[in-house]
This record gives sequence, C-alpha cells and structure tokens, in this order.
Amino acid sequence: MAAKPIIIDCDPGVDDAIALLLAFASPELNLLGITTVAGNVPLSLTAKNARKICELAGRTQIPVYAGCSRPMMRSLTTAEEVHGKTGLEGVDLPEPQMPLQSQHGVDFLIDTLMSSSGEITVATLGPLTNLAIALIKEPRIAAKIPEVVLMGGAISQGNVTASAEFNLYVDPHAAHVMFSSGIKLTMFSLDVTHQVLTTPERLEKIRAIATPVGTAAANLLGHYSSRDAERFEMTGGPLHDPCVIAYLLQPDLFNYRDCYVEIETASELTLGRTVVDLWNSSGRSPNTKVAQTADSERFYQLLTERLAKL
Ligand code: BDR
Ligand code: CA
Repeated sequence: MAAKPIIIDCDPGVDDAIALLLAFASPELNLLGITTVAGNVPLSLTAKNARKICELAGRTQIPVYAGCSRPMMRSLTTAEEVHGKTGLEGVDLPEPQMPLQSQHGVDFLIDTLMSSSGEITVATLGPLTNLAIALIKEPRIAAKIPEVVLMGGAISQGNVTASAEFNLYVDPHAAHVMFSSGIKLTMFSLDVTHQVLTTPERLEKIRAIATPVGTAAANLLGHYSSRDAERFEMTGGPLHDPCVIAYLLQPDLFNYRDCYVEIETASELTLGRTVVDLWNSSGRSPNTKVAQTADSERFYQLLTERLAKL
C-alpha cells in the first residue's frame, strides 16, 4: 500500500518530539514537511527543536518550515513549566545543522495542498494558528484536505484552565476557524490522551531500547511524565500528541463518536473550551470525529516497537 502523505504542524514540545519520532519510524506515512508554530515555547525554539529531532533520527531530508509567531488575536501563552525552557527538557541535543526552509509555514501549507490532488492529511499537534491563517489566505485548501487530525480540546477538565486544553486555549480564534471550516476533523482531546499514561514500566521498556533515539525518548518522557503524573495524581503522565500519529497508523487503537463541536471565543472564564455536543442537543450535524477511549497497552507497544526502529 502506498504511504499516506501527511504534513505535521507542531510546537515541539516534548510530546510533539515523541510524535515526530513515531512518524519518522513509520513507513506507512510519507511525511512531506513539518511546519512549526508558537505554542509550548516561542517560534524560534519550536522551529529549532523540530530540526533537532530530525537530526537525532537522521531524517535531515524532511523540510522544516517556521509558521506563525503568535496567535491570531491574543498574545502568546507558552508552557515552559511543562516542557522546560528549551521546550525539550531532559535532553541536550546539539544545535541543528540542517537549514530551516526560507518559505513561511503557512505558504508551504497552501502551496503543497493546492498542488495536491486532495490526498494530504494534516496532523496538528499545537495551536491551530498556521492552518487557520492558511485557510483565511487561501480558502480553497479546505476542499484539498481529506482530514485534519488534531490534538486539542477537553470534554471534562482542561489543563491550562479548568475549562480549556492548552492548544485551543492559546489560539481559540484559530480553533474556531478550523471547527467551522467544514473540513473533516478528528479530535484527540485530554479525555482520551489522559488514558495513555507513561507508567514507569512503559518508560523502562522505552529506555531498554538503548539506542540514541530510545535513550533520548526515555529521557524526554521521564521528566515530562513524572511532573504530570504528580499534578494529575495518576500512575504516569499522559501522552498527548503521539495519539494523533498512532491514529494514522492504527485507527482501531481508539473508539470514536461523531459530534458537533464549537469553540468558546468570547468568555474569559471558558475561553478555548471545546463545547462537544455528545448527545446532539443542538440537532446539528456532527463536524468532528471525537476520540473517546484508547487501548493504551497496544499504544505503548506500537510506540516502543517503532522507536526501536530508529
Ligand atoms: C498539548 O499542549 C502541549 O503542551 C502539548 O504539546 C500538547 O500538544 C496538551 O494539552
Ligand atoms: Ca504540542
């Protein structure tokens, strides 16, 4: 079967880095390019971190583009307390040698999608700014994207406020553009990523790979998960962004429900909230495939097997 063409839009970020490694290790995917956005850390660092991860895995031929340096309307909120000052806390990777592409990430998205025949899936692992701006600049890309698979949202508790998950809180207006675009969306919210826990046993299996990539992944996850495990009072830290890539590889790792989803953009109290109409109270046609449950055992088996291939 031909590899599925994808673009990954991300803000590395520890879990973004693990998601990139999972994609690199997966021949089922043809990664056409990586666009980065301001999110977990500022844009200069997300653009650098994406290239550090490419170099760690020897994937220097994958082009990396920097996109938007701030959300559409709000000032940037970052998450150094989760991902560290560099965005990749736990490892000390060398400064990247591979170049950052000169084209803006938004223009790469537009040009690549417009010259496609409508087969390129977009995986978003950070705030949705780049894709929303691309849609505003060139609305015809909507008809070219078969599916956007995104990490974002919270049906129960948020992680940056009680209402909102980080990616959608950072740029709720971009999220609104996406959820009202008519593009087929598949959403991995905290409700499902908090089922995918990096327990000490799972972390040890990754560490036991004992390659440069395996060791770097274990070091990244070690710091990231222990902090979250403590904060959320769980047996391991949740692993968010790799769920998006795992879905592209093995969609039956998760269960889904089609729902109508809207984004709160007006209330300060609930800004960035994904209002998920699980019981179809609105009577509106679903616009999002919402992942609800995960087979976390099989997920970590997949992740560990794939990381061992790099
Ligand atoms: C999301 O926010 C970021 O900190 C993570 O990289 C993930 O994309 C989880 O809320
Ligand atoms: Ca992310």
